[in-house]
Amino acid sequence: MKTADIRDKFTTFFEKQGHIKLASASLVPGNDPTLLFTNAGMVQFKDEFTGQANPKEKRVVTIQKCVRAGGKHNDLENVGFTARHHTFFEMMGNFSFGDYFKHEAISMAWRFLTVELGLPKEKLYVTAHHSDQEAADIWHNQEGVPRDHIFFRDDKDNFWEMGEVGPCGPCSEIFYDHGEKNSDPNADTSNCILDDEDRYVEIWNLVFMQFEKYRDGSEIKKRNLPKPCVDTGSGLERVAAALQGVYNNFDTDLFKEILEKIEEISGKKYKDHPLWMRVVADHARSASMLLSDGVIPANEGRGYVLRRIIRRAIRHLDLLGVTKTCFFELVDPVFTSLGEEYSENAKNRDFVVKYLRLEEDGFRKTLASGLKLLEKEIKELKKSKALVLSGEKVFALYDTHGFPVDLTQMILGEQGLSADDIGFEAEMKKQKERSKKAGDFSAAGDNVKDFYEIKETHGESQFRGYDCEVIKSKLIGRVSLGESDALVFEATPFYPEGGGQQGDTGEILLDGAVVGLVEDTKKPVDGVIAHITKSNFELEIGQEYELKIDSHQRQLTMSNHTATHLLQAALIKILGSHIKQAGSSVGPERLRFDFTHPESMTREQISKVEKMVNDQIKKAQKVTPAIMSKDEAMQKGAMALFGEKYGDEVRVIDVPGFSVELCGGTHVNSTGDIGYFKILSESSLATGVRRIEAVTSNGAFEYCDRKLRVLEKLETSFSAKDDVLLAKVAQLQESLQSQNKEIRELKDKLQSFSAQNLLENTKSLKNGTPYKHIEASAEDDIRKLGDLFIDKYPNGLVLITQKRGDKLGVLLKTFKKNKDINCSDLVKEIFNALGGKGGGKPDMAQGSVELNQGSEFVKQIQVKIDEL
Ligand code: SER
Repeated sequence: MKTADIRDKFTTFFEKQGHIKLASASLVPGNDPTLLFTNAGMVQFKDEFTGQANPKEKRVVTIQKCVRAGGKHNDLENVGFTARHHTFFEMMGNFSFGDYFKHEAISMAWRFLTVELGLPKEKLYVTAHHSDQEAADIWHNQEGVPRDHIFFRDDKDNFWEMGEVGPCGPCSEIFYDHGEKNSDPNADTSNCILDDEDRYVEIWNLVFMQFEKYRDGSEIKKRNLPKPCVDTGSGLERVAAALQGVYNNFDTDLFKEILEKIEEISGKKYKDHPLWMRVVADHARSASMLLSDGVIPANEGRGYVLRRIIRRAIRHLDLLGVTKTCFFELVDPVFTSLGEEYSENAKNRDFVVKYLRLEEDGFRKTLASGLKLLEKEIKELKKSKALVLSGEKVFALYDTHGFPVDLTQMILGEQGLSADDIGFEAEMKKQKERSKKAGDFSAAGDNVKDFYEIKETHGESQFRGYDCEVIKSKLIGRVSLGESDALVFEATPFYPEGGGQQGDTGEILLDGAVVGLVEDTKKPVDGVIAHITKSNFELEIGQEYELKIDSHQRQLTMSNHTATHLLQAALIKILGSHIKQAGSSVGPERLRFDFTHPESMTREQISKVEKMVNDQIKKAQKVTPAIMSKDEAMQKGAMALFGEKYGDEVRVIDVPGFSVELCGGTHVNSTGDIGYFKILSESSLATGVRRIEAVTSNGAFEYCDRKLRVLEKLETSFSAKDDVLLAKVAQLQESLQSQNKEIRELKDKLQSFSAQNLLENTKSLKNGTPYKHIEASAEDDIRKLGDLFIDKYPNGLVLITQKRGDKLGVLLKTFKKNKDINCSDLVKEIFNALGGKGGGKPDMAQGSVELNQGSEFVKQIQVKIDEL
């Protein structure tokens, strides 16, 4: 049975049991910034389990794309070594949100495996949590699983939790027996036969979600979920292996095309290099899928994990003897093998290819030099009989050559050596400390507790700044940040920094008098708005104050924010759908927008973008913020940001017919309010990421005004109006160039003229050689002069001396093969006596001697020359 059929069968089976099929969530979790990647089917339903979100459907089925690399669940290092570890895999799952529980979950799973897929019952084994006799009885009584196929296990194996906090519960797992021939002879099965993991492979995990772990101060506590739920996850690759009668997941149809392509690229056979090829195939899947979900290779966070995956793959291609950029060629087989399930792949294909190519090109440049360095270090380690490469050296490889630690580790491992991970971490920490911005509010770690306390006592601060600029509100908390204070009010019109928009500034008043100045507004924890003021304002907790934002600054910021939306939409329309936001910063003075694009924009493209944005401004389109359900927003084509938390209800900023974005920021009422939009610069931020800086409204007018004034000055200086100014400047440049050329030529002529003079009046030595001692001036090039002399007197000899500060420069030159004199020996002989420095060849010697020895040198050499 092909994998595509297994996906279909799973979906159809559960749809028949009243489940609604939902699409796979992005690999970048939308509701959990602490989670690196979506690593299980339940991630997107975390809030439905805990009761924080109201489930729209009570029964759901999904095929979820998952990545387990980096973070808590990390399979990166196991890939290729085992038959079933992957960084990317697909998890089929059925979910019940307060609907069915153990009986139905067990019954459906059993029926699907044994009836729909036809797996032989005797090859299946199940487990239950040691406290869950009920589950074991259901397996036996309801499904007829013999008792000797049922095992109890403890928390380690049969209590599933999402992380340190989050929904959790006991689970029941189903194992497939791959037969005696695949048994691990070293496995310790004294407790349970399933401990032979090579032979018995878990293919489905049924979690009976009953609890939620949560943080209470420094303690982790457990409470009951509002209703018991079910979360199941079955690894598609493992099920496919069982059904297709193969032992190794990499031998299923899912990997066939990818491995064939690797064979083609490398000219080698899979059977000869299974490990390396499996690593490349696995990493091609995770890298392509992560890029398709908008993760860009970077030096931190998710982007760094992706970078490690790509670099690891390239290193393995390198081991296979592939030295050209070609990893991107695997994108098509990866996407074809994953089929229709992930419709976004087709749309993102070109983008993924472009980025893999860029990353590989970049890495291949440093790979060779890094490998050389590492080889040197390995030699030294071996020479000194050491086994561990120091943290400093591992860090240097990481920092200058882009070698992820596991790559260094892997290469060292091939030689029986290892890397000092702890030392590396220490170096990394030092670097982070160095780069940590001073005064960064979020770095005030300890204060976070204080803000939580304010929230717990008084509830969340209400943001009223969408419609008001001034309100009265009670001061409910103050947290000292050293030289400043963070003030928290019940409600506020001050926008806290977020979504790229800077925090508001403004005033705090009491009875009409200003009693505090707000320098910035931030959100230290969710639901708390902190007004940053100097700590010398003495405001009373419990007192009601008037809070007034700086309306002018806010207006300018709003103008820049709406323009940022217009800019993003224009970039997509002009450059293509691969444009994704990679960061933004919007303040009153200017806006900054970072986006994915592999090359610099042309002047024409920049002008087109400016024009498109300004056309929207001219149209004075109404900007309507609306609250709607997330689904509705997605149907409208709203652009969402990866990693941002969006609830069921989202705020959508709509510029009709042009841009729809999910955004919590503040915006102008009409695009006309922006006045004018002007791009200041377009530059590279990192590989494949560009940055645009732009101004709007007053900022744009001021910018243009400044430029125009410079232009006016130029017009006056050149006596030319703008339309002919460029031609005039070009003409002037041209005439300047030709004048410069003329000057150069005249100088040369002058030099050779004066040189000719110097070359005149030679005397004849006894042997008939034409000879002259030239006392060159400081500007003369004495080597050139020597050449000119020999050109003019091919049988001659010349001594050139030149005063240079407190030294006398000397050059003695004759024609090649002059048997009568060896310039170098002669000069050296006299230098030896007088302390000069220099030498050369038989036909030319050069050097210098202290000025006070200069005349003695000339005297002595002259005597020798006169003897010739
Ligand atoms: N959440 C469980 C797991 O990942 C079942 O889907 O194993």
